[in-house]
Amino acid sequence: MDQFRFVSDTEEQTLEMGRELGKALSTGDAVLLYGEMGAGKTCIARGIALGADCEVSARSPTFIMVAEYPGRVRIFHCDLYRVTNPSEAFDLALDETLERGALVVEWPENGGEYLPDDALEVRIERGSTSSSRLISMSVTGPTSQTLLSRFTESSKVMANQ
Ligand SMILES: Nc1ncnc2c1ncn2[C@@H]1O[C@H](COP(=O)(O)OP(=O)(O)O)[C@@H](O)[C@H]1O
Ligand SMILES: [Mg+2]
Repeated sequence: MDQFRFVSDTEEQTLEMGRELGKALSTGDAVLLYGEMGAGKTCIARGIALGADCEVSARSPTFIMVAEYPGRVRIFHCDLYRVTNPSEAFDLALDETLERGALVVEWPENGGEYLPDDALEVRIERGSTSSSRLISMSVTGPTSQTLLSRFTESSKVMANQ
């Protein structure tokens, strides 16, 4: 399976899904979070950090571009919202973070070509009510395929939704 779809009806369900993904995460994994402002990207990133037993600092990565959370797996949480020129993403050396941990990126569309080639792409869309979200995942290589497999294995109940 290289696709996954999940309907979340509450912020808590999205957080829980992120936590399951965080549990499946290993060093070298990259997760790209696509979705408009308020979609729930940061909510998933928070869940991922919880699932990886990370200590999350209070500072939003919006102000420091990449926040580093030590945990079972070190997480590099990056928000490219303010990046206007992809060369700024080049300067962040995001590829290199994969040698030391896992990378989670909000607004990856602003990073141009300077993102890992092999990444789990998560898309969040708003549903018919203010708190429903359609979350879909797809893979772009063998590493993200393995991550998705580990995630769907450990959260079989969710995958049936
Ligand atoms: N099902 C849901 N999943 C995630 N967030 C939700 C959901 N329903 C409502 N929300 C709200 O949407 C907002 C998502 O915020 P955030 O995660 O910061 O989004 P982003 O990082 O994509 O801009 C929060 O205010 C949250 O309370
Ligand atoms: Mg955000």
